[in-house]
Amino acid sequence: MKLSQQVIYQIYPKSFYDSDGDGIGDLRGIIDKIPYLQKLHVNMIWFNPFFVSPQNDNGYDIADYYRIDPTFGTMSDFEALVAKLKAVGIGVMLDMVFNHTSTEHVWFQKALAGDRKYQRFYYLRHAKPDGSLPTNWESKFGGPAWSPFGDTDLYYLHLYDPTQADLDWHNPAVRAACADVVNYWRDKGVKGFRFDVINVTGKANQLVDAPKGVASKTLYTDTPVVQDYLRELNAASFGQDANSVTVGEMSSTTIKNSIGYTNPDNHELSMVFNFHHLKTDYVDGRKWSRMPFDFPRLKHLLDGWATGMDAGNGWQALFWNNHDQPRALNRFGDAGRYRVKSAEMLATVIHLMRGTPFIYMGEEIGMTDPDYDSMADYVDIEALNAYRALVRSGYSHADAFTIVKTKARDNSRTPMQWDASAKAGFTTGRPWLRPTNQAKINVADELAHGELFNYYQQLIKLRQTMPIVADGSYQTWRLDDDQVFGYWRQLGSQKLLVLNNFYAAATTVDCPTEMLTAKVLLSNYDEVTIQPKLVLKPYQSLALLLDEN
Ligand code: GLC
Ligand code: MG
Repeated sequence: MKLSQQVIYQIYPKSFYDSDGDGIGDLRGIIDKIPYLQKLHVNMIWFNPFFVSPQNDNGYDIADYYRIDPTFGTMSDFEALVAKLKAVGIGVMLDMVFNHTSTEHVWFQKALAGDRKYQRFYYLRHAKPDGSLPTNWESKFGGPAWSPFGDTDLYYLHLYDPTQADLDWHNPAVRAACADVVNYWRDKGVKGFRFDVINVTGKANQLVDAPKGVASKTLYTDTPVVQDYLRELNAASFGQDANSVTVGEMSSTTIKNSIGYTNPDNHELSMVFNFHHLKTDYVDGRKWSRMPFDFPRLKHLLDGWATGMDAGNGWQALFWNNHDQPRALNRFGDAGRYRVKSAEMLATVIHLMRGTPFIYMGEEIGMTDPDYDSMADYVDIEALNAYRALVRSGYSHADAFTIVKTKARDNSRTPMQWDASAKAGFTTGRPWLRPTNQAKINVADELAHGELFNYYQQLIKLRQTMPIVADGSYQTWRLDDDQVFGYWRQLGSQKLLVLNNFYAAATTVDCPTEMLTAKVLLSNYDEVTIQPKLVLKPYQSLALLLDEN
C-alpha cells in the first residue's frame, strides 16, 4: 500500500501489555495483542525504543543500539514480533535516537577512558576563560546543558538529561555509525524508522552563547545542514528501499523546512512531525503553564500547515497524541460528558486530512489523563524537574502540582487499559505507572458496546480505500467560524468537505450550494440532513462527498 493510504499506530512498549508479570510491558506482550491490532487494521506500528538502556529517559537514553533491553525481551522475541506482524500485513517502525547516546554507551565510556576517536563522537568543550560553562545553553529537561566530562577539565553537551550525551554530527564517523544501525534493523525486516529530535543535530562547530533574551534552542534547531545529514543517511540506508517509511521528529520547524525534509525530490524523509498545534494551550509558549486552547490559533496552524505542505509537495505526519503529550482529549476535547463524541471529532480532523495519521495506543478507546492526586505517582524526569523548578520560582506546591498534572508526559504513558480490573488487565504484577480510570474506559467494554473503536476502524478504512482521502489536495474552507474547523479535499471529479465542531454547543454552518446534493461519507451522529443550514451537534464531525460525474 502506498504511504498516503497507510495509518500508523504507536505503541509505548513499556505500557502496552506485560506478559511476564514484572509490571512492565514487553515484546511477548505485544505479540499476544496482535489480533487487537489486526482488528483495528493499522498498517504499521511505531515502537518507542526498547534497546538496551538505563531507562533514565524511558529508553531514549540508549546504551546499545543493537540489542534488546532484557526488560522487554530478547532478539528472538523481536524477530518473532516482526514475523508475526508481517504475517498479518503490519509493518514495523523503530525509533532511532541519534542526537545523543546514553552516557553508558560504549562510545561515551571509551571517550571517558581517553580514547581520542570516541572523544570526537561528542561535544567536549573547555570552560570559558572566566571559568563558566562553555555556553549558556539550557537543557530541555531543566538546568544547564553541560556537565563535567569525567576527571578532565572538559564539559560534554547534553541537550536533554545529563545521562544523554549529544553526538557530534560533524564527525563523518558518527553519521556512518548511525547509518549502520539503520541497516542492521533493515536486515531484520524493519521498513519504518522514526528519527528522534533529528533537527537538533545541526549544531554549529563553534558553540556560542545565546544572546540575552534569545532561547538557546534557536541557535541549533532546524538548521540547513540537517537536510544534508538526512540526504546522506537516506542514501546510505533506508533510501535504498523504495518501500521504507520514515518520519523525523522536528522540534520548532517551519513549513518551508518541512517541505525541504519531505518533498520526494529531495530524498530525505517520508514525513515529519511538527508540534506547533500542540502548543496552542501554552501561555507565551511555555509548556509548564495552563490555559484553555486557543481555537483560532489551532485552526490557523492546522490549515496553514496543510495548505503549505500541499503547495510544496511536502508530507505531514498527522497526530494529536504521543508519549510526550498529555492526552488530547483532556486538552482539545471534553474528557467528561462528551468523551466519545469529542474523541471521534478529533480523530476525524486528522484522519481525513492530507498526510499520514498516527494513532497513539489507547486513543482508539478514548483514554484520558490519569487522575493522580500527588507527585508520588509521577516518575518522568521532565515532570519531576519541572515541579521542582516551578516551586523554586515561587509557585505554591498545590499550583505547581496542578500544572504538572495537566502537562506531564506520564499522562499518556499509563498502561493500556484492557479491562476494568484493578490492574487494567495490563499485568499480573505491579504496574510501573498506575492506571486510574479503567473501570470506565477499557478495551473489553469498548469492543463489547462502544462506538469509538468502530469509528476509528471506519476512518482507517476510508483512507485505505478512498483515493480522495489518501491523495486529494487540501483547500481551506473558512477560518472565521467561532467553533467549526473545516476543510476541503479534492481529487478528479470528487470533492470532500469535512466539518468539525470543536465545542459542546450545537451550531449551524451554511452548506455550500454545490454540496446540497452531496452524500454523507461519515459522521459521528446518525441521521444527518443535508440542508442549507447544516446543523452540527456537540462535537459533531461531518464529511460530505460530492462526485460531479
Ligand atoms: C523525543 C522523545 C522524548 C525524549 C526526547 C529525548 O522528544 O520523543 O520522549 O525524551 O526526544 O530523546
Ligand atoms: Mg514484562
